[in-house]
Amino acid sequence: MDAAFTVSLLGLALVLLSCPDDASLNRVFANTSGAVYPGSGFVEEALQRAIELTDAAYARTSERVKKSVSEGALRPSDLLAQFKQTEAKTSAQIRAAELLDNTVELIREMVYTHTMVQPDHQALLSERDMENLQQVTGCSAELQRPSCDTDCLSERYRSITGECNNRHNPRWGAANIPYSRWLPAEYEDLWGMPRGWDPQHTYHNASLPPVRLVSQEVLFTHNDNISLDSTLSHLLVEWGQWIDHDVVLTPQSPSRSSFRTGADCTHTCSRDTPCFPIQIPLSDPRSGFQSCMPFFRSAPSCVAGVPTHRRREQLNAITSFVDASMVYGSSTSLASTLRNRSSPLGLMTLNSQHSDRDLAYMPYLPRRQAHLDPCGPRSSLTSRASEKSRQQENTTSCFQAGDSRANEHLGMIALHTLFLREHNRLVKELHLINPRWSPDTLYQEARKIMGAVHQILTWEHYLPRVLGEGAMSRLMPPYEGYDPEVDPSIANVFAAAAFRFAHVTVQPVVTRLGPGYTTNSQHPQLPLHHSLFASWRVVQEGGIDPVLRGLLLSPAKLQTPGQMMVEELTERLFQAQGGMPLDLGALNLQRGRDHGLPGYGSWRRSCSLSVPNTTSELAEILTNFTLAHKLQLLYGTPHNIDVWVGAISEPALPGGRVGPLLSCLLARQFRALRDGDRFWWEREGVFTGPQRRHLHGVSLSRIICDNSHITHVPADPFSRTERPEDMLPCSHPLISHLDLRPWKEPDSYPDCGLIPRVQSGYSLLCDSVVLYQCHSGFELLGSSSVSCDPNSRQWSPSAPTCQDIDECKNLTSVCPQHLECFNTQGSFICSEPSSPSVVSVVTAVVVVTGGVAALLMIVFCYRRYFPKKEDLVNAECCQGKS
Ligand code: HEM
Repeated sequence: MDAAFTVSLLGLALVLLSCPDDASLNRVFANTSGAVYPGSGFVEEALQRAIELTDAAYARTSERVKKSVSEGALRPSDLLAQFKQTEAKTSAQIRAAELLDNTVELIREMVYTHTMVQPDHQALLSERDMENLQQVTGCSAELQRPSCDTDCLSERYRSITGECNNRHNPRWGAANIPYSRWLPAEYEDLWGMPRGWDPQHTYHNASLPPVRLVSQEVLFTHNDNISLDSTLSHLLVEWGQWIDHDVVLTPQSPSRSSFRTGADCTHTCSRDTPCFPIQIPLSDPRSGFQSCMPFFRSAPSCVAGVPTHRRREQLNAITSFVDASMVYGSSTSLASTLRNRSSPLGLMTLNSQHSDRDLAYMPYLPRRQAHLDPCGPRSSLTSRASEKSRQQENTTSCFQAGDSRANEHLGMIALHTLFLREHNRLVKELHLINPRWSPDTLYQEARKIMGAVHQILTWEHYLPRVLGEGAMSRLMPPYEGYDPEVDPSIANVFAAAAFRFAHVTVQPVVTRLGPGYTTNSQHPQLPLHHSLFASWRVVQEGGIDPVLRGLLLSPAKLQTPGQMMVEELTERLFQAQGGMPLDLGALNLQRGRDHGLPGYGSWRRSCSLSVPNTTSELAEILTNFTLAHKLQLLYGTPHNIDVWVGAISEPALPGGRVGPLLSCLLARQFRALRDGDRFWWEREGVFTGPQRRHLHGVSLSRIICDNSHITHVPADPFSRTERPEDMLPCSHPLISHLDLRPWKEPDSYPDCGLIPRVQSGYSLLCDSVVLYQCHSGFELLGSSSVSCDPNSRQWSPSAPTCQDIDECKNLTSVCPQHLECFNTQGSFICSEPSSPSVVSVVTAVVVVTGGVAALLMIVFCYRRYFPKKEDLVNAECCQGKS
């Protein structure tokens, strides 16, 4: 706590010191406009208090987590927090935004105590106050416009953070920006209090029902009372979650303790930010054990400090683009950590402790502090498991990937592992085709192909099955090119409601199958909750093959009005050692309220669909009176129905799996992700024509064949395959290869002829420019790029050379003090000075070998020209005989 608090005060002091006129808070927040803003006089006091409260809440959280961990108890809410862990950059922004939020909240309270009037959010503070607050809290730095490179590489590869995809609005679609709003937020107050915060508050003359009650009444489905999808595989469901993890990650507040009262959010029923606990109704079987289920508000973003805004907005911590960011990360630091920097091939880092026979796993997450391994065996630590954890003192069994949710369940781990392997397969193949490409080029080219593969599989194979062919062609017209006016950022309603539709298509069991798609006692099928955060099972129970086979052969769950969400998800989510399991349905509904999403009717209106006012109108839309009646009883009016539950209650459109409202919301988002992406795979110039043609035939089944031990796959892995006999061998022509020959860089350029290359270096033709980089241990002499001058038809300036760096000459400290340094081509050797050096040993060997050879030569010549007497006698005798 002390450290964090000191950092805050230090930051504050620095900002104050950097103020031009006076370092006193009073002066900084002086109101210059002359207008009277009731909050201005309280800014200094509120800010100091907010720093104390925020840092104290963070510190309490860290103490509590340490304590519960030392007691050996990982609670479901700890796993949820682990699930949403964020990168340092996101955490910094969240802290700044929470500080700002808490300060403004305190100012409002202070003004109210003094005046007994609730101020309007535009009238509370002046713009100058807000700007200063933003600066002091660190929000201004977070909101700064990034500067964009304009070189050839920035046209060729998307950035890791998604920044600068749109050159005019460089933050559109980038990581760590607020979700966009298609309808204004409808919070319970003007500032950002969630809907349903005050259970007595009414909307359209009715209060909102407790979300857990809705879950129990409408969603709950016994595990064995489900219908199976007759045409779709469970891999299609998994693909949806996979893409969700590519485009959406809403961080929650890092504090698990109320800012104002210090209450522990995991044990309180009182609503006090960030605690927004889910009340357990008396009718609930759980009510005897606990009266509330913990829920943490999504973290605010700094945009609430922008004068025109001043409302709470939630953050997307990852890039919105379909760019395989769950493989590569959405921050440059994570992307760099995930790469194998010593590889000349641009490979990603692999697990160094375990492998899946000849195939690799993702690396393990480093253990930051001594805590329980959330991804290890849970029920009882067997001696084998404890032996294992002793061996892995500095790691957990959690895998490290580009997204913090990689370990969430076995299906997710299987897809992460598969695509990690695919990246490494692609770079190796690209290297064979283009041996002059640098590790960076190989990495970027493979990453670009992976992005395209994800776009193609999603738009060509996944979406038509979800939306149905009719809705697909109506709502997703053919691609017409990049439109810089389209904002590709994820919309709040998409993240907090629409794209969660597939939670009702998840099977309650994880099917695992052996070779030949047969059941195997070594890795039997599991109830879903046994597969959550159970990464250890992949390593110890047969790798990813059994999980992939299960996804290929098992069907999706069918969503019907009476069979919504399986009890594995409503009753046993993140059921760890003790603690009340979570309920995914209730989380979804509470999240929508936390984000201030307007109700079902408003969203239907926004999609130009009819708005139900009565039970019978609702029943007509849902084509189900029982469900409509249930919703009416719970909500009192169709207008108040939470958008997620309303949307999933609609019957699916022909050939699809979602109703009209979800089709509208999903298609709108996916269209924006396509048309607003400067690196969309079909855009002219992103890939060449031949490359596009080859990419178009990409096959997920082929990717499975190439990166697992599976030998038989379906031609179409998103369609249901009923029998193992219907699978095709990987060698079948329908399981087409991605031919990378169109990626071969030409040897000459139309105007200037042969592309100049360098010895001991890499080169890349980027438009009409050749970029150079030297192998490690060599330095570039000359220009790092040459370009083709169309007038002189020459490359200019002349190509550089790569010269060996004499590490020993330049850097005397490269070897430890007691060792001597010897330069070699591209490297150096450290050797004991007392012992013969490597060079002298080599010289000595050469000299001795040369000496012996010379001696032998002399003896040979001597014998030839001065033969021995006996030889002469023998020769004479023999000549006579012959
Ligand atoms: C085994 C299957 C799954 C499990 C256990 C699971 C679990 C979860 C959990 C715990 C959350 C966070 C809830 C919250 O705190 O608000 C979540 C969010 C979400 N899930 Fe799932 N999910 C599964 C499958 C899917 C599928 C198949 C899809 C989509 C096709 C999906 C889409 C989403 C989306 C869009 C979010 C919001 C993400 C965010 O805002 O950060 N999930 N899921």
